[in-house]
Amino acid sequence: MSLVRFATGALGNLKQTAAVAPSSKHLAKAMVEPLRSTARRCVIEFGPGTGVMTREILRCMPADSILLAFEINPQFVDYLRSEIPDERLQVVAAGAETATAELDRRGIANVDAVVSSLGIANMDAAAVDAVFRPLRPYLNPQGAITQFQYFYRIKLDQGRVEYFNTGSLMRRYFSKVRSTRVWLNFPPAYVITCRGALTDVSPAHG
Ligand SMILES: C[S@@+](CC[C@H](N)C(=O)[O-])C[C@H]1O[C@@H](n2cnc3c(N)ncnc32)[C@H](O)[C@@H]1O
Repeated sequence: MSLVRFATGALGNLKQTAAVAPSSKHLAKAMVEPLRSTARRCVIEFGPGTGVMTREILRCMPADSILLAFEINPQFVDYLRSEIPDERLQVVAAGAETATAELDRRGIANVDAVVSSLGIANMDAAAVDAVFRPLRPYLNPQGAITQFQYFYRIKLDQGRVEYFNTGSLMRRYFSKVRSTRVWLNFPPAYVITCRGALTDVSPAHG
């Protein structure tokens, strides 16, 4: 995947893209590794971009599985549809917050794993809630959700450094949250792995 392709797609909306370059293969492998200990019949990806995680997810999925990838950038949607011709991959040109509506439309009641590249630090509380809260009843109890973040305890907002605790945020939705660092990425990133969807989720984070 070319950096140019990613940069061209990202230029229109840097806040939405939340990255200056596609993730490295090392980060993609770390994001997908927790999926190996769960079933992988139905996997959801949020924010596939140019598909570095998508390809890695498909590598570990069985033949009769489905990967629903939600992407809001039309340039990335076109790119994924033309460059990854895999019957298991369904690229949905819609936001992550529409995932459960899409699952209902397809008659899918169980999701085994979610791989999210959303820039959650730059989303407002209601937007994060709209993504993770409705997914809860669909998640396989043994399933895993992975999310990456460049910083674990801060966020950059219009050049200002602000406190933002990724772990606290994800603990609002999941009982087990752990993080690992991936140095071989630009910039280095944390992979946050979440398991055990909570049934009592407060509507917003602080
Ligand atoms: C940080 S980039 C990650 C791209 C790719 N997964 C990677 O790791 O190189 C975030 C991606 O999420 C997409 N995105 C942002 N908000 C979204 C939303 N609400 N629903 C689905 N995709 C979204 C952006 O268009 C972008 O492709």
